[in-house]
Amino acid sequence: MGWNSWNTFSDKISEDLVKGVADAMVANGMRDAGYEYLVLDDTWSLRERDALGNLVADPVKFPSGMKALADYVHERGFKLGIYSCAGSKTCASYPGSQGHEYQDALLWASWGIDYLKYDWCFTETRDAREAYTTMRDALFAAKRPVVFSICEWGRSKPWEWAGEVGHLWRTSGDIYDSWDGYKMWEMGWKRILDLQTSLVDDWGPNGIAKFAGPGHWNDPDMMEVGNEGLTVAESRAHFSLWAMLAAPLMAGNDVRYMSDEITAIMTDADVIAINQDPAGKQGFRALDEDQKGIEIFIKELSDGDWAICALNTAAEAQELTIPFHRFYMLGGPKSLYDVWANRVVGDTTQDYTAMVGSHDVMMFRLKAK
Ligand code: GLA
Repeated sequence: MGWNSWNTFSDKISEDLVKGVADAMVANGMRDAGYEYLVLDDTWSLRERDALGNLVADPVKFPSGMKALADYVHERGFKLGIYSCAGSKTCASYPGSQGHEYQDALLWASWGIDYLKYDWCFTETRDAREAYTTMRDALFAAKRPVVFSICEWGRSKPWEWAGEVGHLWRTSGDIYDSWDGYKMWEMGWKRILDLQTSLVDDWGPNGIAKFAGPGHWNDPDMMEVGNEGLTVAESRAHFSLWAMLAAPLMAGNDVRYMSDEITAIMTDADVIAINQDPAGKQGFRALDEDQKGIEIFIKELSDGDWAICALNTAAEAQELTIPFHRFYMLGGPKSLYDVWANRVVGDTTQDYTAMVGSHDVMMFRLKAK
């Protein structure tokens, strides 16, 4: 869990921004809710390496230097992440790490960097597994524990090989703040959800869910929760579904200026507990009835509990029914705790029906009775 600069700030990043984000996340409860890694995305460096071939943090954006920034966030209980690329250049055409892997890893370790997001632009004929393994080995040789985030957009089916190489791997192109919009390279969160859950045929009934587990996760991209293009309902549903997918929860909004409603969504302890459940099982789509505008996701939890989330994909509010009689995998009778309403609303001995707003969810934790 953490925060990443890209979705909202693009190249408008600076040490002041990161410090402000760290302070805000202490004040608004996000740190205590579990958000830990603050990640600077593309555009943090100068356009050229120095005479020794080292990357240089942009002195206008980061006048105190990266070491001082790492110290600042560490003192407040966070970890600091940075970004580079397996190609000659990053996606925004800053220097990439190809051919400089060991040198860059040592530099980041000397700054106190704890997380690397490693992108895939300008890689030409490079083999993804080889490229990411080289950087993994470089990080290892630099002897500082680093979370390694693989960002090659699912091109080489990273779920098949990346478990031994990194801790999370992107499964698609980029997200943007939309329900199901589509641009050249960017998609709304519902499309990414569909993509991930429809990678089914080749990998069995639950698709690529089985490749996820503690320390190695499918990454449907950083969140757009709280950003302009989403209604509050769409933000709540987005957060709920990322929790069901056991996805990394990287905030991608301006956490310094959030409404109370969005703060409450992003710090909800029950939903975060479902996301962070120690068994690390990724949820799957158990029901998909397009014509009725309902999709249901189920996630197995570690202590015999289950999570279930019903999404209203229709453009209007409507009654949704969870047909518990069809979900035999849930086992014996369980109580239904509504994680957004914070109360027990019934049990699984009968189907459950309730009104759900457009693009909103109802979500439950099921406990053995
Ligand atoms: C790619 C990545 C994004 C972001 C940008 C930065 O598009 O997929 O997440 O890091 O590059 O340029």
